[in-house]
Amino acid sequence: MSLDVDAKKVLLRKIPHGLFVCGVREGDEVNGFTASWVTQGSFEPPLVVMGVRADSTSHGIIERTKRFSLNMLKADQKDLAAVFFKPQKGLGGRFDAAPFQDGPLGLPLLDGVIGGVECELVGQIQHGDHTVFVGEVKTAQLLEDGEALTMASTGWNYGG
Ligand SMILES: Cc1cc2nc3c(=O)[nH]c(=O)nc-3n(C[C@H](O)[C@H](O)[C@H](O)COP(=O)(O)O)c2cc1C
Repeated sequence: MSLDVDAKKVLLRKIPHGLFVCGVREGDEVNGFTASWVTQGSFEPPLVVMGVRADSTSHGIIERTKRFSLNMLKADQKDLAAVFFKPQKGLGGRFDAAPFQDGPLGLPLLDGVIGGVECELVGQIQHGDHTVFVGEVKTAQLLEDGEALTMASTGWNYGG
């Protein structure tokens, strides 16, 4: 039985996604990237699950530091999400496109977004070109509640 790759692509793209900026820090090095393969995995403890490209800079940092942040973007922040398609180094509390604060765990939490959570890594599945990281939500900062940016609203695709 062979996989129908065209059908697989159409079907997997039906999985709805949000768009987030994942933040990482290793010493003075701060990095951020757009992540869409994100979902909740448990109420208690509160877990999030995120698929991260195995060859990305942030992947190595998450493995070594065992923590990451997730920033929830507002519905009108498509341009901000696009900036983080490319590696974004943060310096002095600022990425090129946006300022951030260090959260209690030392991870970048963007200003001007809905808010963000900081997670400690509690598990990972390394198989294929992305690693599935499981993070326990340790801190949560709500700046301004509102509608969140979704992949569907952008016309972009990451998946299939
Ligand atoms: C719409 C969109 C969604 C993306 N979602 C993810 C994702 O869920 N996981 C991931 O690892 N990369 C995702 N990427 C790719 C990363 O944003 C990109 O590889 C980033 O440059 C990695 O940065 P780094 O190498 O500095 O860690 C996505 C890209 C786009 C265009």
